Amino acid sequence: MLWVYALCACAIQSAALIEAGDFAKNIAAIVGNLTLQEKYSLLQGVSSSGADGYYVGTILNISRLGIPSIKMQDAGQGFRTSDARLVGQVTSWPCALALAATWDSSMAYEFASAAADEFVIKGANMVLGPGLNVHRVALGGRNAEYLSGEDPVLGAALVGEWVRGFQEKGILATAKHYLLNNQETNRVSYSAQASPRAVAEVYMVPFRAAALAGSAAAMCSYNKINGTYSCSNAATLRELKTLLRGWVMSDWGATHATAVEQGLDQDMPGTDDWYSPNQLNSVHGDAIDAAVTNVLGPLLSIAPTVGCQPGPDCAHDLFETNATSTEHDALAERILTQGTLLLKNDALLPLDRSLKVGLVGSVSDAPNNVTDLISTMRGNYYVVGGSGRVVPARVVTILEGLVHAGFDNLQISPTDDVSAALSLDVDVLIACGGATSGEGADRTTLSLDQEDFLVRISNQSTLPVVIVALAPGAILLPFKDDAAAIIVSFFGGQATGAAIANIISGAASPSAKSPVTFPLSVNDTILPCRDLSCPYAEDLYVGYKALHAKPVAFPFGHGLSFATFGYNWASTPDASILASSPSLSFDVVLTNVHAVYSGVETPQVYITYPPEANEPSIQLKAFSKTPLLPPNRTALLHFELDMSSFRIYSPSASSWIVVAGLYDLYVGASSRDLRLHHSFYIEPRGAVPKVS
Ligand code: BGC
Repeated sequence: MLWVYALCACAIQSAALIEAGDFAKNIAAIVGNLTLQEKYSLLQGVSSSGADGYYVGTILNISRLGIPSIKMQDAGQGFRTSDARLVGQVTSWPCALALAATWDSSMAYEFASAAADEFVIKGANMVLGPGLNVHRVALGGRNAEYLSGEDPVLGAALVGEWVRGFQEKGILATAKHYLLNNQETNRVSYSAQASPRAVAEVYMVPFRAAALAGSAAAMCSYNKINGTYSCSNAATLRELKTLLRGWVMSDWGATHATAVEQGLDQDMPGTDDWYSPNQLNSVHGDAIDAAVTNVLGPLLSIAPTVGCQPGPDCAHDLFETNATSTEHDALAERILTQGTLLLKNDALLPLDRSLKVGLVGSVSDAPNNVTDLISTMRGNYYVVGGSGRVVPARVVTILEGLVHAGFDNLQISPTDDVSAALSLDVDVLIACGGATSGEGADRTTLSLDQEDFLVRISNQSTLPVVIVALAPGAILLPFKDDAAAIIVSFFGGQATGAAIANIISGAASPSAKSPVTFPLSVNDTILPCRDLSCPYAEDLYVGYKALHAKPVAFPFGHGLSFATFGYNWASTPDASILASSPSLSFDVVLTNVHAVYSGVETPQVYITYPPEANEPSIQLKAFSKTPLLPPNRTALLHFELDMSSFRIYSPSASSWIVVAGLYDLYVGASSRDLRLHHSFYIEPRGAVPKVS
C-alpha cells in the first residue's frame, strides 16, 4: 500500500490521517485539512521553470502535511536537457516513434523503467509524456515524439507498458497532447473540426488506453477543438475524465480561462493569471476540491516520496548527478536496433566485414552540434527539436558505428559530393541522408535534406548502394528503385550509428515494422492546415487507411528481416460469432523458412468491416511478436481479440455498436502483405459488448 508510505512521510499534524479508512477517505481527509491557499497551490504551477533547481514545471510542496512537490520534466527522448549542465548526465534515448517501430510493449516497458531511474536520480517525479497524438499530418513537426505513429491501435498497445514502467518507479505519467494537436502550424490558434466518430475511433483511442492504464495525468493541448480551446473544452475533458483517475494539466500557456469546472485541474507553468488565488476564488468550492483530489490521488499513491524541494535544494540532484550509465547506453542501442527499419534488401545485407565499403554523404558523420543546440529549439539528425529534445553529449555517428563494428576496409567521402563518392574504389556504397524537425513548426517537405545527392548516387553508381536515412517520421524515398537496400532510423539519439551498424553488419537481425506509411508524394498525405478552422474532412481515413487504393513507396507495418517467414493458421475463428461474445480467438504458426538467418517477425491482424459499417477498408486490430527464431523453427502465436475491438461509434445513437455482417480477417507481415485470410460473421443476437 503505497499510500501508507506516503502518509508516513507526513509531518506530525497529519499523523491521525494515517490510520483513517481507505485511500479515498484519506485523500478526502487530507483535502479537508488543506487551507484554501494550499488547495490553490496544487492547481497552479510556480513560474520558476529554468531557474536553478527548478524543473520545466513545478508545483510546490505542502510541508505541514508531507505533500510532495511535483517536479515535472519532458519527455520525448528521455530527461529533457533544459539546461546545458544536463548534457551528458542523462541518456539521449531513441525517440518515441523509434520505440513505436519495435511494435514491442516489453521494449516500451524497458525504456520507461530505465528512463524513470534517471528521473528519480534527477529529483523529478513526473514525466511530461507519453506523446500520443496520431500522425494525421505526415509533415507534423512533432511526429517523432508520438508513440502512435499513424495508427491509434499501435499507440494504445504500447502506452500501457510505457506508463507502467515510469509509474512503478514513482514517476507520474502525463498523456499528451489531448486532443487533436495533429500539427504545429498555428498550433495555438487553429480549431480542429473533427466528427465525434473520428474523435472516438481514431484520436481518443491512445488517450483512452493511457487513462485505463492508470496514467496519473493528461495534458490538454494548445489548439481549439470544434471552436473551443482544448483546455476549456468541457465535452472532451469530461469524456477523458470518465476514465482518467488523475488530473488534467494545461500545456505550457494553453490555458485561456479559469476552467476548473470545465475539467482543467491545473494551470501550467502557472505564469498566467487564470489560476491565481484571485481567479480561483470565483470557482465553486466543490469543483476546487474535486480538482485537488484529482491531483492528490495519483501523487500520494504513485509518487509519495518527498525528495528534494524545488529550488536550491534540488540543484544538486538536477545538475550534479550522473543519471546515465553503460547499462542505459546498451539499452538505448538495443531499443534502436529493434526500432531501425530495413525497408528494402536485394540480398545485399548483411555486409561481410571484409568488403571494401564506401561510406558517403555528410550525414555519415553528421555533427551533434551540442553548443548550437543548448539555447535553441532546433533539433538535428539525432534528436527532435523543442521540449522533447535530449541533447546527447556524444553520439555514435554512422561512421563510428561501422568502424566499431569492424568494417576495416572503409573508405569515406563525408560530403554530399557525387563525383567524389562515385570515385571511391570500393565494392559497395553506403549513402546517408537525414532530415530535422521539431516543436512549433511543421516540416516543409518530406524530402531528406540530401535527397538530390542520394538520388544521383543510387542512379549513377555501378555498385550496389545502401541508403541510410535518419528521419523525423515519414520521408520520401525517390531512390527506392535504384538502391539495393534501404535502412531508416527515426531520431535515434546517442546510439544512432551503433544501431545502424548492427543491422548492416548482421550483428542483429532487423525486426522493426513501420509505424508510418512512406508515401510516393507529399500530395498523397494530409497537409498542415493553414486556416484557423481546420476541417478533418477525411474523417476516419487517416494514414494508410486513406491510401488503400494508391501505390505507396513502403506501406504501414512493413519492415524486413534477414530471415523469411511462412504464415499458417493453427486455428481459425469460428465462422459465426455472437456480438455478445467476449472475444474471438485464433492461432497462427510462424516458421522461419530461411536456411541461414535467424529472425523475429511481427504478424499483424487487420480486418475489414461489412460495407454497412462505412469503415476504411483495412484496419489494424492486433499484433504479436515471435521470439528470435533460428532457421526452420516455428512459433505458435495465440490471438484473443476482445469483441469491443470490432465496435464502431454511432453518432446518431451517441454510443458504440457492433455491426452485424461478414468480416474479413487477415494476418500479414504489413498492411499490404496479407498472408492469411478468414471470413466470419458477427451475429447481432445478444447485447453489444460494453465500452471499456
Ligand atoms: C510542449 C509540451 C511540453 C511543455 C513543457 C510545451 O511547449 O508543447 O509538450 O511538455 O512545453 O516543456
